[in-house]
Parts: sequence; structure tokens; C-alpha cells
Amino acid sequence: MGDDRDRGVRLDDTVGLMTAGYAWLPGLWRRGGGRALHTPGGGQPPGALGGPHPGRLFYDERHVRRHTAIPEPVQGTLFGHGAIHTLDGAEHRERKAMFLSLLKDPYRVADLVEQVAGAWDEAVGSWSGQRRVVLFDEASQVLTRGVCDWAGVPLDRAETAAVARDLVALVGGFATLGPRHWRARRARGRLEDRFATLIGQARAGAFPMPPGSVLEAVSRHPGPDGEPLKPRLAAVELLNIIRPTVAVAWFVAFTGHALHRWPQHRDRLRTEDIGYAVAFAHEVRRFYPFAPFLGGRAVTDLTWQGHTIRTGSLVLLDIFGQNHDPLLWPDPYRFEPQRHLGHDPDPYELIPQGGADAATGHRCPGEDITIALLAAFATWLSKLDYDVPAQDLTISLRRIPALPRSRFQMSDVSRVKGGAHMLRA
Ligand code: HEM
Repeated sequence: MGDDRDRGVRLDDTVGLMTAGYAWLPGLWRRGGGRALHTPGGGQPPGALGGPHPGRLFYDERHVRRHTAIPEPVQGTLFGHGAIHTLDGAEHRERKAMFLSLLKDPYRVADLVEQVAGAWDEAVGSWSGQRRVVLFDEASQVLTRGVCDWAGVPLDRAETAAVARDLVALVGGFATLGPRHWRARRARGRLEDRFATLIGQARAGAFPMPPGSVLEAVSRHPGPDGEPLKPRLAAVELLNIIRPTVAVAWFVAFTGHALHRWPQHRDRLRTEDIGYAVAFAHEVRRFYPFAPFLGGRAVTDLTWQGHTIRTGSLVLLDIFGQNHDPLLWPDPYRFEPQRHLGHDPDPYELIPQGGADAATGHRCPGEDITIALLAAFATWLSKLDYDVPAQDLTISLRRIPALPRSRFQMSDVSRVKGGAHMLRA
């Protein structure tokens, strides 16, 4: 049995993470001499899981828990303090039940797509005459409008662009300690203030909450003491629905990129073949880089591929690596939606939004929403005619989260004939 403790790789090497981006963990594999590491780290020896199906170990609460595993800079930007992502056991299951009831109901998912479709139609209508349209920026505003309307969160039209910018900042700044990070912290402060005030007013009856809405459910959800969550914490969790929905804009920009690089997919998407649109959405989520890895903490001594990971160590699950593992995905750097046709994804293999079961573990409860939105956006984009002007479409793997540098720009956009009625769910 190997013990890599003397190989001297520090997983708390945040500078390495910031400069190496998605290559950081594979670099550790190489330097650690294998796909399971156990390294000294400053007082916090960590382990990183690679190889076949590491999710089975990572998602077993008897082995790995989340408490204290998520660094403060990520909580202070992306998730918020006290967020569901940091909970374990009964408290996690209790709060997760609320997210699942709001996010996994197919009628609610269809309703969200409908709201976003309305915002998209309006946006497309406003593009004629514009020299260039930046797809990422437009998608983030369309998603902000759609998700706020769907969730029962009041949003003045005039505020949409500013709120979208703040929501994008939360996602854009979690993996750096540079200016983007401080922008994200300020944006979180503004958004939490705004949502906590809104929840306070809603609870006080200052305006009627739409019955059955996300706003109502989060405002009324009780904490472990049986009392409604404190307004700040309720705001954090409301943001944990609004913010990741807007983050789908990253995948929308990648969808634009994929349709530009491999235009052969457009025709089939235009036929509104939902199965194909879903397969396309899966391939966008697998192929393009977004969440790099996940962290938990070993609750007991673990053995992974012959290596020991000590109790208390940080344990990392390599999302980007697994989504490009040739053992799971033949020719992994080929964009091939067909590979997902005719079967449901294995819950431990396709893990861009985490693995295992969303009902019992931390797997993303927003996956159905993400897939439905992406399938719709891919279809909507396939029904537009546009030019792709000269621009820098490089996707740097050094920057987390990655994005085409130009955020995908289009010019001379118009609807193709028959494209007004678009796939809604
Ligand atoms: C842009 C697309 C998305 C990506 C890449 C993504 C990715 C992820 C990942 C990697 C996790 C962590 C899984 C784990 O810890 O095991 C997660 C958790 C979560 N996601 Fe998503 N997500 C996306 C969209 C959404 C949407 C649309 C929603 C809600 C509307 C959402 C809500 C959540 C919540 C509440 C959690 C915490 C779950 C828990 O800790 O139990 N996500 N997501």
C-alpha cells in the first residue's frame, strides 16, 4: 500500500490553483505520481480522488462530509455563509427537501423555461439594428428576468442589467483573490441586503407573495429550531436558486461556441427533436469546463486505490478530469452529443453538477432546470441566423470559471423562417 506523504504537494496551494486553473488538479496527479494523493499540506493533509467512480466514496456520508470543507473565499462569494452546500446529515436533508420540491417538479421546470422563453423572445426582438450582440451578456439578463419572474421576486426592468451583473460577478469571482474576487464580495453584500429586505417585507405583509412561489417557500422554510430561517440566511438560499440559474449563461455561451465550431448540429436541433436537444445539452455540460472539482472532508481513515487518506483530510473529487476521462468517454475531446442518445446518464459518470442522488446527497438539485434551459437555448439559437464576426473565441483553462474570451458575439441576427415558435420545455 503506497503512502504519498513525502511527495510534498500542497493542496492548499491556492496560488497554484489561481494560475493553473483546470490544469491544477491534473498537475497534482502527475506530481503525486498517481490518481490518489495523500500529501502533507499545512496541518491539513488532503487527498484527491481520481480513477473509476470515485463518486461512490465521495458521496457516502460515512466517509466524506462537507462541514468545514468549503473555503471561506468560496462561501463569501459563490454560496453564501450558512448555505446548504456546507451542511451534513439531518439538517442537510431537511433543507435539501425544500430545494428539491421547488426545483425538481417538472411543471415548475416547464414554467421556468416558459418565463425565460418570453424574456428571450423580447431580447431577440430588440437586437435588429444592433451591430453586435454579446450572447453571454444577453443570456445572463434574459435568465435574470426569467428566473426572478418565475420565483416571485420583484425586479424592475430598469434594474435587470445591474442585478444580472451582480449575479454574474458572484460566479466569476470565487476562484481568484484578485479584483474579480472583491467585486464578487461586494456584489454578494448588495444582493443579500436586497433579498433579506425583500423577505422581511414579504413576511411583514408589505406585498402579497405569489402563492406557491419560490419566494414564499424560502421565506417560510423553518430552520432546525422550527422558526423561519433568519432573513439573511433565507436570502442566501434564495440566491442559491437565482444565482445558479443565471450561471447557465456560461453554458449558453458555450452552446453558441459549439454551434459555431460544429454547425452540423443545427439542422437536427431546428427540428425540435427534444431527445437530441437534451443529448446536446449533456454534451455541452460534459465537454466544456465549468465546475472544476468538489471538496469534502474524510470522517474516517480512507483507502483509495491503495493510498491512505487520513481522517480530517480534505478530499477532492475531480469533476473536469472525470468528464474527460477516456475510460468513461471514448475520444473525450470530441464534441459528440450522440454519445448521450438512447440512455439516461449514469449518476456517477456524468458529473458536471455533482454525482450520486440529489435526494440523498449534495448533487445539484438544479440539474433538470439546467438541462431544460440548455436544450431550449440550443434550439432557440439554431433558429437564428447570424454572423460570427472576428473575435477572440479562446477558452483559457487557466481561468475558473472558463468562458470564451469574447463572451461569444453575433452580428446581423434575425430569426429563421418558422422560428418564432420555439421549443419551450
Ligand atoms: C450552470 C449550471 C450549474 C452547474 C454547473 C451546477 C453545479 C453544481 C455543483 C457542482 C454542485 C455541487 C454538488 C456537490 O457538492 O456534490 C451544485 C450544487 C447545488 N446547485 Fe447547482 N449547478 C448548476 C445549476 C444550478 C441551478 C439552475 C440551480 C437552482 C435553480 C442550482 C442549485 C444548486 C444548489 C442549491 C446546490 C447545493 C446542493 C446541496 O448542497 O445539497 N444549481 N451545483
